[in-house]
Amino acid sequence: MKKGKLLLSALLLAILLAGCSQESEQDAQPAQTPEITSGTVPKRATAGTDDQKKSSGGTNGNVLIAYFSVPEAVGVDAVARASRVVEDGEVVGNTQFVAETIQQETGGEIFRIETVQEYPGDHDELVDFGENELAEDARPDLKNQIENLENYDTIFIGYPVWAGDLPMPLYTLLESTDFSGKTIIPFSTHGGSGFSGTIGTLEDLQPDATINTNGLTVSREDVSESREDIVQWVNSLSVKQ
Ligand SMILES: Cc1cc2nc3c(=O)[nH]c(=O)nc-3n(C[C@H](O)[C@H](O)[C@H](O)COP(=O)(O)O)c2cc1C
Repeated sequence: MKKGKLLLSALLLAILLAGCSQESEQDAQPAQTPEITSGTVPKRATAGTDDQKKSSGGTNGNVLIAYFSVPEAVGVDAVARASRVVEDGEVVGNTQFVAETIQQETGGEIFRIETVQEYPGDHDELVDFGENELAEDARPDLKNQIENLENYDTIFIGYPVWAGDLPMPLYTLLESTDFSGKTIIPFSTHGGSGFSGTIGTLEDLQPDATINTNGLTVSREDVSESREDIVQWVNSLSVKQ
């Protein structure tokens, strides 16, 4: 009988000990789980967000339209070749008009490239001034820089063609801002030369960005009538939300 009781006690003790050891394993798990979770979840969330941005090709939040434009306010009616569009009595530059239309279509943010110095408003004076800057290989100081560049995947860059080249403020911007990993979509206005060599120059200045070669260039003669063409072009890019 005694032997039987002893055996029973030993059995009960063994069951009790086994239960304790299981509990201590379970206790150990919750201590490890948050560590693994907190390391994994934010990574997945970040990758998901980037993927969404890429697959949508850009949304309101990640499209930026950066442009340079010099509306020729002096002699608005007198100079036939002057660059401006008059809308509701307001004078806007040709490239500005295209930029604002792109902004309306994409819902992106707009950034006007402005220089510390002011450009002449008179057509002939402006042509001399711009060509001198090119001859001197100038880098005019900018008034402002793009803020929160990391928020943008797709950047429209717009400019008037000057002396077959980019206006020098574009060099200042493109040499001081790193667009690596971004998609740059060029647009320009011109007096007959189209993009000239400016797409290649953009590629040289931003070798780690993807330069979309399906850019839009509009003759200054056609700018005021170009809204429909701009809308169609933007639609063809699939950058709208
Ligand atoms: C300094 C200067 C140089 C220019 N050089 C050229 C040129 O080489 N080829 C061209 O087609 N148009 C040239 N143009 C015309 C402009 O590209 C055109 O008027 C443009 O639409 C101006 O745009 P904006 O009003 O946005 O400044 C030049 C204009 C200026 C002021």
